[in-house]
Amino acid sequence: MTQSTPRKPFLDVLAGQRQAVPPLWMMRQAGRYLPEYREVRTQAGGFLDLCFNPDFATEVTLQPIRRFGFDAAIIFSDILVIPYALGRSVRFEVGEGPRLDPLDTPEKVATLSPEADFTKLEPVFEALRRVRAQLDPKITLIGFCGAPWTVATYMVAGKGTPDQAPARMMAYRHPEAFAKIIDTIVENSITYLLSQLNAGADVLQIFDTWAGILPAAEFQRWSVEPTKRIIAGVRAKVPNAKIIGFPRGAGALLPSYVGATGVDAVSIDWAAEPSFVRERVQSHVAVQGNLDPLVLIAGGAALDRAVDDVLANYASGRFIFNLGHGIQPETPIAHVEQMVKRVRDFRG
Ligand code: CP3
Repeated sequence: MTQSTPRKPFLDVLAGQRQAVPPLWMMRQAGRYLPEYREVRTQAGGFLDLCFNPDFATEVTLQPIRRFGFDAAIIFSDILVIPYALGRSVRFEVGEGPRLDPLDTPEKVATLSPEADFTKLEPVFEALRRVRAQLDPKITLIGFCGAPWTVATYMVAGKGTPDQAPARMMAYRHPEAFAKIIDTIVENSITYLLSQLNAGADVLQIFDTWAGILPAAEFQRWSVEPTKRIIAGVRAKVPNAKIIGFPRGAGALLPSYVGATGVDAVSIDWAAEPSFVRERVQSHVAVQGNLDPLVLIAGGAALDRAVDDVLANYASGRFIFNLGHGIQPETPIAHVEQMVKRVRDFRG
């Protein structure tokens, strides 16, 4: 960092310096709860057309920053662009979520391409460069990918399911074929994350939305180990790369996830136990989270109380204020404003 570059409070937290006012952003902060997002989304047509048009992707990345002044922008894309670049069919049906061609037998896995076509993802890198150029230097730019386990759950089932049974079943029945899917995602995610750093991302987040449904041994094998390999692969090229992990639902397994993977920060869901997290996790790395997205919909005194609880639980240590999972489309904007004001008025 040159001396003329202003400090980024978000990066200071990751580097070990607690901030009196915790830096703040929201997972899924660009999205359907914003009318300006819905407008661009309509113009773009399909969801992937939005992700792969640098004009649109830059615009929707910056929208929540303009409106709320968050401390971080996250590049607008999706975790399923990796299967897309691997040549899988990926579609987003309105109101139904993602649809892929299921990769659910060893025979199909044998046809999986080992290498993604990264020219397909060039618009994401272009959007990163444009956001970087337009973003206030005090604001951190986040690049991301899905953790191999979570990406694999969608690749195997071809869609989201309540407990991702198809991927769990495949991992038991065909561990070698399943490992090939995981290894393919690991290798390509390393390249993808390095390209995002190269295009201007300051920090990377690895989303493992489905980490919490695995038995402990499977969690170690399919969530922790592949994440560790991605982080080691990125740091082999960029030794000081800053990385946040989000192993949703990891609960009592959070300390082993943090210890094994080498993340600089861990994003926790709303069900995490505060004293456990403070003593076993925040003592080692920064913590990010963990307001329940539902209380953000509820608003009112319940929201004020919940924001105060999150701050009381974690703001005495290295902390980034966020939600425990993505913001929901029905969230009123006024409630986001109420949350932002309350966090910014806090002095810890
Ligand atoms: O956070 C941001 O603002 C950046 C963009 C972002 C999106 N998806 C945009 C998106 C990020 C970081 C993601 C990550 C993602 N995508 C995850 C991990 C985090 C999480 O929320 O659990 C997962 C599991 C996915 C896969 C995915 N993409 C699903 C299951 C869906 C459908 C559910 C839904 O909310 O519609 C998507 C679509 C998607 N990705 C949307 C957005 C804004 C909504 C699509 C639309 O606008 O029609």
